[in-house]
Amino acid sequence: MTPQITLALSKGRIFDETLPLLAAAGIEVLEDPETSRKLILPTNRPDVRVVLVRATDVPTYVQYGGADIGVAGKDSLLEHGGQGMFRPLDLQIARCRVSVAVRADFDYAQAVRQGARLKVATKYTHIARQFFSAKGVHVDLIKLYGSMELAPLIGMADAIVDLVSTGNTLRANDLVEVEQIMDISSHLVVNQAALKLKQAPLKRIIDAFARAIAQD
Ligand code: PRP
Repeated sequence: MTPQITLALSKGRIFDETLPLLAAAGIEVLEDPETSRKLILPTNRPDVRVVLVRATDVPTYVQYGGADIGVAGKDSLLEHGGQGMFRPLDLQIARCRVSVAVRADFDYAQAVRQGARLKVATKYTHIARQFFSAKGVHVDLIKLYGSMELAPLIGMADAIVDLVSTGNTLRANDLVEVEQIMDISSHLVVNQAALKLKQAPLKRIIDAFARAIAQD
């Protein structure tokens, strides 16, 4: 019997930009996550199903075998730690960056120069802690789960560490990007045990994705 493969994806850019890679592997998702309320989506292949989870939860589902394979942003992987999974491919999709942003009237360079203690609001506490510690800047991190842009606007934080893609969200909220911490793209992640137990079907998907990326 062909083993069932469960693929974890998050709605939005990652889902949309993974579809062409799935097509290259002969896999077509049969329902649109934007209109369906289902969390388990069937595909044209009886042995492959897609589960929809929060972007930050993709590594956790793959780590614990809730999914055999998944597509996770480098940001989510760094925050999670990446234990229990292989990371065979940088899919080079859902590209953006993690940056530091402040209110336009906040003198970030001077605050850093003076060795001020910065209040930084972010969902990305690991990335932020590492970045500021490497710079020797003391920070108090405020963990948020979304709408980070609000924190400097209402005086709760001096800076945010967040994903920036077009920069439109920052501009709309009068924030400026003052440092780029790292480039982000999405990676294919595979549960370590699944790769042994379901080696052939998983390898076919990984190889098809790799070929599709190489053609771009
Ligand atoms: C991300 C990020 C910013 C926005 C940046 O949020 O947190 O708010 O995108 O994109 P831009 O530079 O193109 O404006 P996302 O929409 O992924 O949702 P989230 O708030 O759940 O992270």
